[in-house]
Amino acid sequence: MRRPMVAGNWKMHGTRASVAELTEGLGNLSLPAGVEVAVFPPALFVTEVINGLQGKGIIVGAQNSAIQPEQGALTGEVAPSQWAEVGCKLVLIGHSERRQIIGETDEVLNRKFAAAQAGGLTPVLCVGETLEEREAGKTLEVVGRQLSSIIDACGVKALANAVIAYEPVWAIGTGLTATPQQAQDVHAAIRAQLQVLDAEVADNMRLLYGGSVKAANAAELFGMPDIDGGLIGGASLNADEFGAICRAAGH
Ligand code: PGA
Repeated sequence: MRRPMVAGNWKMHGTRASVAELTEGLGNLSLPAGVEVAVFPPALFVTEVINGLQGKGIIVGAQNSAIQPEQGALTGEVAPSQWAEVGCKLVLIGHSERRQIIGETDEVLNRKFAAAQAGGLTPVLCVGETLEEREAGKTLEVVGRQLSSIIDACGVKALANAVIAYEPVWAIGTGLTATPQQAQDVHAAIRAQLQVLDAEVADNMRLLYGGSVKAANAAELFGMPDIDGGLIGGASLNADEFGAICRAAGH
């Protein structure tokens, strides 16, 4: 049985005051025992959030990490080993905002994925198509290629220590959610792609859906057979809403 995961990606949001309030709110939630809950705060607040959530059963991750596992001369970056040392467990790799706005290529992401694992973090690999790609009927091709890039570089076994998030770019922050069936179709294709290479990795892989998930649509999405939870942006900035989404994964 795959343990569902619900993760909140706070992106570049927050002030000291709002982060303190959100952390306190999260600490007061009653969370379902069977669900792994995680948050990805902005880098500068990560240690505060880790301290604030001590003993609350919520995992903290980094939104980005360096292309090499260990500390060194790399201005402005944070090494996976440094994140791990302060208590981070996860890192987002390949979020569409980093692919599209920062310009991270598959090659950079392959290095980040490998570095994350070597430095003691579990990567949450994000994949997804743009609206143009979907309308051109290329969704499965694009998502398949993003996944193959990591498999070719790191080997399918590396995915045994990873989570995959399918996030259609057109659904992120837009209020447009993929229908449960649209999301399920892509999740099933991702699992089938893994199945051919390694049945155990495929069966155990947690596949999260991301893109305008809210309390109102979470249960229906998480009820699909290949959707094992969610990666939540905007709705994760409100503790009560996020708590409701976490409960929706606890069926
Ligand atoms: P959203 O973002 O929930 O605000 O659409 C999801 C994400 O980018 O991870």
